[in-house]
Amino acid sequence: QQMSRAAKCIADGDFNQRVPENGPQEVRTLAISFNEMAARVAVMQQAQRDFLANVSHDLRTPLTSIQGFSQAIMDGVASDPASAQHAAQIIHDEAGRMHRMVEDLLDLARIESGRLDMTRRAVRVGDVLQAIGESLSVKARDKGVGLELNILSDLPRIAGDGDRLAQVFTNLLDNAIKHTPSGGRVALRAEAVHNGVVVTVRDTGEGIPAADLPRIFERFYQVDKSRQRDHRSGIGLGLAITKQIVESHGGTIQVASAIGEGTIFTVWLPMLAPDMTTILARRER
Ligand SMILES: Nc1ncnc2c1ncn2[C@@H]1O[C@H](COP(=O)(O)OP(=O)(O)OP(=O)(O)O)[C@@H](O)[C@H]1O
Ligand SMILES: [Mg+2]
Repeated sequence: QQMSRAAKCIADGDFNQRVPENGPQEVRTLAISFNEMAARVAVMQQAQRDFLANVSHDLRTPLTSIQGFSQAIMDGVASDPASAQHAAQIIHDEAGRMHRMVEDLLDLARIESGRLDMTRRAVRVGDVLQAIGESLSVKARDKGVGLELNILSDLPRIAGDGDRLAQVFTNLLDNAIKHTPSGGRVALRAEAVHNGVVVTVRDTGEGIPAADLPRIFERFYQVDKSRQRDHRSGIGLGLAITKQIVESHGGTIQVASAIGEGTIFTVWLPMLAPDMTTILARRER
């Protein structure tokens, strides 16, 4: 009776209901499962609330500046060419930020519901990495961070989506450069292992506190959020997307870090099964 009352409360949206775990064995087992279920629903509910709060906050921040600076143009406050240019630049950058965020959210939603278009081709990871390394070398140089690429030549091909894999390593390199002060080093290394490819992105940057490490792949999770907000440095979706893409390739991603010494991300991607090689080779790009 108590249980059916509690179930009714949960159905009505009160997720804090628990039932006493006593009585005959069978009832007790049922009560324990019931309480576990209620606890899990409460956690999911909370995660969803946090998610909505994060999204709204992250969308509102750039919107506020877009409104403010366009208002300044309309009111003639930013009337000389230089101020108008400055205001337009900010509006442009903030709109770009919102755009990226919406794209990232869509990617996450698509991956999680299994609707992300992922091609499966024989991918030469080495070529993907080389291209990313070159495109991010400018950013590293501007920041005074040394970028080393060490891509071994005998890498097996893997089955996957080259563009999505590019997204993975762009995110990791971008993070590494972002969190490494001038004078530091970022190294990207790719080597063959017996069952695939291991790519490591290592930096000599600020590192991640041990307490934050387990949560680093969660959506919107950022170490010291308040400090990052000022830097306008992303919204904390990069690693969540990265992990999802790696896992949908059958791979794994791990992180190790020491404060003040640096961080290393290790991605393993399984190699193309031999019988798939000929099928996919015909579709190779
Ligand atoms: N190489 C690194 N060194 C130190 N901290 C890192 C490193 N990579 C990630 N982090 C921490 O993990 C957090 C989450 O990273 P993630 O890539 O998901 O988000 P972001 O870079 O803040 O934003 P986004 O990638 O969405 O633009 C970062 O905010 C940062 O605190
Ligand atoms: Mg990032």
